[in-house]
Amino acid sequence: MSDFVAQAKAILRVNDRGTFTIPTAGLYPFQWNWDSGFAALGFAHFDVDRALTELETLMEHQWPDGMVPHIIFHEPDDGYFPNAEVWDTQRPVPTSGITQPPVAGFVLADIMARQPADSPYIERARKLAKQIHRWHQWFAKCRADESGLVAIVHPWESGRDNSIDWDAAFERVPTEGVMPFTRRDTSHANPKHRPTDEQYKRYIWLVQQFRALGWDNQQIALQSKFQVIDPGFNAIMIRSCLAIEALADRLGEREITAESAHLAKQMLDSLETLWSEELGQFVCRDRLLNENIASPSIGGLIPLCVPIEPAHVTKLCDTISRIGDQSTYLLASHRPDSPDFDELRYWRGPVWLVVNYLVNKGLIEHHRPDLSERLVSDSLALIRQSGFAEYYGAHSGTPCGGDTFTWTAAMVLEFVNERD
Ligand code: DGY
Repeated sequence: MSDFVAQAKAILRVNDRGTFTIPTAGLYPFQWNWDSGFAALGFAHFDVDRALTELETLMEHQWPDGMVPHIIFHEPDDGYFPNAEVWDTQRPVPTSGITQPPVAGFVLADIMARQPADSPYIERARKLAKQIHRWHQWFAKCRADESGLVAIVHPWESGRDNSIDWDAAFERVPTEGVMPFTRRDTSHANPKHRPTDEQYKRYIWLVQQFRALGWDNQQIALQSKFQVIDPGFNAIMIRSCLAIEALADRLGEREITAESAHLAKQMLDSLETLWSEELGQFVCRDRLLNENIASPSIGGLIPLCVPIEPAHVTKLCDTISRIGDQSTYLLASHRPDSPDFDELRYWRGPVWLVVNYLVNKGLIEHHRPDLSERLVSDSLALIRQSGFAEYYGAHSGTPCGGDTFTWTAAMVLEFVNERD
C-alpha cells in the first residue's frame, strides 16, 4: 500500500505544472476542469496549499458570465486537437467554451472539512466558495429548465464523451460542413480505446455551431442540437451544492448557504423524474425530445452519492451487485450484458476510478460497507495489475487510454487513505 502512495504522489508531481496539473503528458497537455478537481483531492493528502492552488487556477479562468471552461490552454501545445484556435473563445488566456461536471464544490468542502477551525486557508476557501457558487448559479441560469435539472449541450461536457447514452441524440447532430481536421488523440492512445471518427465530426460540428453563436451561453442553450439531462452530472452538481451549503454555513456566508440549499433541493426532487424502475437506476433525458433514454450506464448510478430515497439506494445497490457478477472489476461504465457494451472503448464499458470514487462515497454514506469493500479492492487490484492508467477493461483489467494518469493517482490516495 505504501508503494501505491509513493507512486501516486510521484505521478501528481510529474504532471504538476506549478499552478495546475495536466491529466497526462501527450494526450492531455493542458488543464482540464474536473480532472483538476480530482487532482486537488489527491494533493490535499500531502500538500493542502498546492491543492487549493489547483482550484484557484481553475477558477481564475471563470468567464464573466460565471461559466468555468472545461479546458484552459495555459501554454501552446500542438499535440492536442481541437486546439485554442479551433475554439476561438477570445479569452485573455485561451479556454474552451463549454464546461464540465462541477466537482470543485465538493472537492473544496472535503479539503476544508479536514482543516481545523483556525486554518490559515479559511479566506482562500471563502473566495473559492464564492466563485464556485457563481458557477452553480450560472448552471441554474443558463442550463436549467423549470425542474432545476441542468442539461449538457455537448457530450464532452459530461466527461463521458462517447457514452452509449448519447448515441441516439448525437445522431441528430449533422456532420455536413465540418472543417477538415486531423485528430491527435489517436496518435497518443490506441484508436480502439477512443471515440470514433464519426463521433469526432459531430463533436467538432457542435464546436463550430457554438463558435458561430459567438459563445453566447444563452443562445447556445437555446440552439444546441444536442441537449441531454444526465443524472450523473446533476448528482455531481447536487453533491457540490450541498457541500458548498455546509462550507458556507461554517464560513458565515448566509446567502450562499440558503441559495445552495435551494438549488440542491429542487434538483434532488426533480431527479425522481429520471428514475427507471425497469432498469433499476436513473437514466438520461433527451431535452429536445422530452423523452427519457433507456440506457443503463454509470451516469444513472452516480446519484448514489446524493441523499436519494432508501428504496432507490437498495435498487441501485442491487444493480451494482449484478454488474459485479457480470464483470471481473467494478464498476463497468455500461451494463456488461447490454448489446452495445464495449469492454475497452472509453466510456462504453471500461472502469474509471473517479466514478468508483463517487459511487463509493455513496456506498459509505448510505451504509453499504459490503459493496464499498468490493469497489475499493477492485480499484486497487486494477492498479496492482495494470498501473495508473486512464481507465481499464472491466473483464480483463487492460490498461487503456493515457498512462501515469493524474486522477487515477489522486483516487488511489483517496482509497488508501480511506482504508487506513
Ligand atoms: C478529449 O479530448 O478526449 C476530451 O475528453 C475532451 O475534453
